[in-house]
Amino acid sequence: MQVLVAGGAGYIGAHMVRALLAAGHQVSVLDNLATGHRAALPAGVALAQVDLLDSAAVAAAVAAAAPAAVMHFSARSLVGESVVEPELYYANNVTGTLHLLAAMRAAGCGRFIFSSTAALFGNPLRTPIDEDHPIAPINPYGASKQMVERILADFDVAYGLRYCALRYFNAAGAAPGGEIGEDHRPESHLIPLVLKTALGQRPAITLFGTDYPTPDGTCVRDYIHVDDLCTAHLLALDYLAEGGASRCYNLGNGAGFSVREVIDTARAVTGREIPVVEGERRPGDPAVLVADHQRIIAELGWQPRYPALATIIDHAWQWHQSHPAGYPEGERK
Ligand SMILES: NC(=O)c1ccc[n+]([C@@H]2O[C@H](COP(=O)([O-])OP(=O)(O)OC[C@H]3O[C@@H](n4cnc5c(N)ncnc54)[C@H](O)[C@@H]3O)[C@@H](O)[C@H]2O)c1
Repeated sequence: MQVLVAGGAGYIGAHMVRALLAAGHQVSVLDNLATGHRAALPAGVALAQVDLLDSAAVAAAVAAAAPAAVMHFSARSLVGESVVEPELYYANNVTGTLHLLAAMRAAGCGRFIFSSTAALFGNPLRTPIDEDHPIAPINPYGASKQMVERILADFDVAYGLRYCALRYFNAAGAAPGGEIGEDHRPESHLIPLVLKTALGQRPAITLFGTDYPTPDGTCVRDYIHVDDLCTAHLLALDYLAEGGASRCYNLGNGAGFSVREVIDTARAVTGREIPVVEGERRPGDPAVLVADHQRIIAELGWQPRYPALATIIDHAWQWHQSHPAGYPEGERK
């Protein structure tokens, strides 16, 4: 199948491009390289360096790609930045998505897989979080994803767009072998920050709150291996190709690990010292965020291949050790 990957030069998108190629699909990428890396793309994959806010360029790129399906990873995704720059987030994540959907309609493409997020659920009322949990985001980033989910539902009714919205919990790890991995600038995710501390690039890792109502007092999160995320997308692609109706799925490992567990596991995997500083809680950080992933297991037959935290960290470590400065700077826009 011809698949257009919007945001394919980013962390998860670049893993998806490889997974699609390995599964025998044809792939093209649309990305403005705002946070992505040209070097993350395999040789031979066509890149349309286009900003989703440029509707004419998006229409031309989608028409040229003539995709049978679109996977949409492009977004701004820093929660704190979204609070101080909401316009940037609603424009990029909502208006940009509308341009992509309009271009798909014009090109006659009606299959869409959307990168949604656990941030939809705000401060959860219960855990693990299933798809029936109320949606109540507490920041513009989460709200922008909620708006897109609503737009998708309306486009389904009006235009027959069929989609899967995959609400990721914490994407982590890297493809085994260390060829590609996570390189966000600035980095806000725990595992890369811990591994950069192991490499000596940061003096210490800060524990934001040690008095949460969790077994060791630190926040518990659900870390899902990036390759397991990609497998879920491949299954969603097949499901839509077989005529499946639009669906939302919560996508996580189904197990929670505390910040201290992540640091202890990283110490064991790397054999390095990882100094820790105890700090205050950050506003808006729930104590526990864990996915109930039963729906995607039951309906799409998804199973995590790498559920162990040590494996997730080991694969991330292979990337960070072999690329301590991330992707080559010259390859960035
Ligand atoms: N990483 C996670 O843990 C996580 C968790 C939940 C949801 N998500 C969602 O998954 C998706 C991918 O996340 P990621 O960590 O790979 O992010 P990323 O920043 O590494 O990748 C996003 C890609 O989209 C591109 N992009 C952004 N705005 C664009 C625009 N206007 N036009 C064209 N391209 C644009 C960027 O250049 C980048 O290559 C995002 O939608 C994010 O909200 C990620």
